[in-house]
Amino acid sequence: MTRFAHGVSALRSSEIRDLMSLATSPDIISFSGGMPGNELFPLDKIDNIYQSLTEKEKQVAMQYGPTNGLPTLLESLSQYLEKKGLPVGKNRLMMTTGSLQAINILAKAFVDPGDTVLVETPSFIGALSAFRSYEANLVSVPLQGDGIDIEALRTTLNTAGPKPKFLYFAPNFHNPAGIIYSEEVKHQMIELLKDQDIPLIEDDVYSDLYFYEEDVPKMTNIKTMDPEGIDVCFTGSFSKILGPGLRLGWMLVPEHIYKKCELIKQSMDACSPSFSQVIADKFIRNGYIYEYTENVRQEYKKRGLAMIEALEKYLPDYVSFEKPRGGFYIWLHLPKGTDSSLILKKAIEKGVVFVTGKTFDPDGVKNDCIRVSFCNTATDVIQKGIPVVAEAIREVCG
Ligand SMILES: Cc1ncc(COP(=O)(O)O)c(C=O)c1O
Repeated sequence: MTRFAHGVSALRSSEIRDLMSLATSPDIISFSGGMPGNELFPLDKIDNIYQSLTEKEKQVAMQYGPTNGLPTLLESLSQYLEKKGLPVGKNRLMMTTGSLQAINILAKAFVDPGDTVLVETPSFIGALSAFRSYEANLVSVPLQGDGIDIEALRTTLNTAGPKPKFLYFAPNFHNPAGIIYSEEVKHQMIELLKDQDIPLIEDDVYSDLYFYEEDVPKMTNIKTMDPEGIDVCFTGSFSKILGPGLRLGWMLVPEHIYKKCELIKQSMDACSPSFSQVIADKFIRNGYIYEYTENVRQEYKKRGLAMIEALEKYLPDYVSFEKPRGGFYIWLHLPKGTDSSLILKKAIEKGVVFVTGKTFDPDGVKNDCIRVSFCNTATDVIQKGIPVVAEAIREVCG
């Protein structure tokens, strides 16, 4: 028997992958991915950027770079984040290979086997897997329509037991729940965690993809609020606002945490892709990032609204959902105890895929929810696919 490390054994093979392997038809409709639409990538701008690079810049792009990131990108990204109000000057910014690497590095920095880590349920599967790989004991706190359940968080914190190493949460257009944290919930979190020596990992990769300008003030990050007595580790990414193929994210963290993270990153990959960093730097400096996010915001809004309309028209009334105001996802609540894997199986037979609830459950059990993504599907395809999802739900739930 091959003797793998404990942390790797803790990684569960997913039933969903087996089900997905049934989805072989080339014209299957997919509501499963969390990726930008292929046709939305700013290919002309990337061509332009590459054509306009000097020979020296192209050499830099092909070379190893500093572990924390190329100085030019650190400068332009700092300005971009400062404009959003993030306290860049009081913290350290580090480029990472996707924001998933930032989450991974932070997990490595904090977690010894058996350590308690607080996570929302449901939660982003990538982060859960990262925490599991360091053998964290995941303790889940339910998520509500306006953010983490504060009373449940209070109870968890007051329960005797080892002090959690950190709390991981995603405040804006949550994956998979689609919700935004209210300002009240964020303030209550600060009250609860102040001087507790429990850092926050604030994962914010979707906040630029809002449908409604009026929501922007409500979406202020806890990192931006800069609360005293809490170490807030902020993570972000170019994946949803430029392209995940660049594999470029970042962390903005207090100096003492940064120092450890830089050492950890050195041993992981020495540096993030210089090529991507050169492109991303020009994308910001040329102002393309503002133009591009403005465009994709409109397109995702069209898709999101088309999906809401189709869901309202076709779903049985025992299925409920929070209407998204941005991001990529809608989270459907089925009758309590429903096994959404049965629904997925039927939907796949009919040519549609989505992701089942338990994928996002830290305990891998609760399966009476479904995540449907609208990001990578045109509106006419959404209109075709949602009735099929509704039919599969009716066949299982009645
Ligand atoms: C909530 C959340 N955080 C982080 C990531 C990771 O993004 P990346 O590693 O591509 O930056 C994703 C990707 O889907 C996500 O949904």
